[in-house]
Amino acid sequence: MAIRGTGASVFVTGTDTGVGKTLVSCAMLHRLRACGLRALGMKPVAAGVEATPEGPVNPDVVALRAASSWPAPLSQVNPYCFEPPVAPHLAAMAAGVRIEIAPILQAFQALAGTADAIVVEGVGGFLVPLNEREDAADMALALALPVVLVVGMRLGCLNHALLTQQAILARSLTLAGWIANSIDPQMARFDENLQALRERIAAPLLGVIRYRPMPDPASIELRLPHDF
Ligand SMILES: Nc1ncnc2c1ncn2[C@@H]1O[C@H](COP(=O)(O)OP(=O)(O)OP(=O)(O)O)[C@@H](O)[C@H]1O
Ligand SMILES: [Mg+2]
Repeated sequence: MAIRGTGASVFVTGTDTGVGKTLVSCAMLHRLRACGLRALGMKPVAAGVEATPEGPVNPDVVALRAASSWPAPLSQVNPYCFEPPVAPHLAAMAAGVRIEIAPILQAFQALAGTADAIVVEGVGGFLVPLNEREDAADMALALALPVVLVVGMRLGCLNHALLTQQAILARSLTLAGWIANSIDPQMARFDENLQALRERIAAPLLGVIRYRPMPDPASIELRLPHDF
């Protein structure tokens, strides 16, 4: 059954930084669009930039906009962008800025008013601090979105995945599904690790992404939390 409106939106978190959140978010955007939905990516908080014709932009934001139905305004897709690739609350402090959740919510609502689905990529892992009091989990809670967890499959991922599941459930958020992303082609016992997670994560496995030297989000097959 097709679910329209923000019902198709998700918050994508990961077991760590660099585990494939952007890749999965872009793959979900392609999938949503293939289902006929107007889908936009959002990365509320980003640290690290590259030169673009629009000025310095975070590379994840570039990728998310490229995978979206149209390039929505940068100020809405990425309300907080910091130049140094460091922990966001530290980058914000250095810039004399306090990351606030209210403007993030406003930007999300503006995007949601024009699209059928927003894929929101978190920043780092689930409990990355945003300011002295709030963290990325508070952002997911304010957005009131189901969470998709990207597990970067490598040694240590069982602990990271299960801790993240616990943190998601502790905030009374819905874990809508998870994706096993093979970021280490040398990982020993991949299948047994995958099975161990299947037995312990209380949400559907939406996809298993094999290691590819140049992963193309448009060709990655995964299921969406909702059945279109
Ligand atoms: N299945 C895969 N096979 C090969 N390389 C991958 C795979 N998944 C991700 N990568 C690569 O790993 C790097 C990190 O992936 P990605 O940027 O999606 O992670 P992330 O969780 O969004 O990171 P960040 O915390 O910086 O936002 C990228 O260079 C990406 O191309
Ligand atoms: Mg990313």
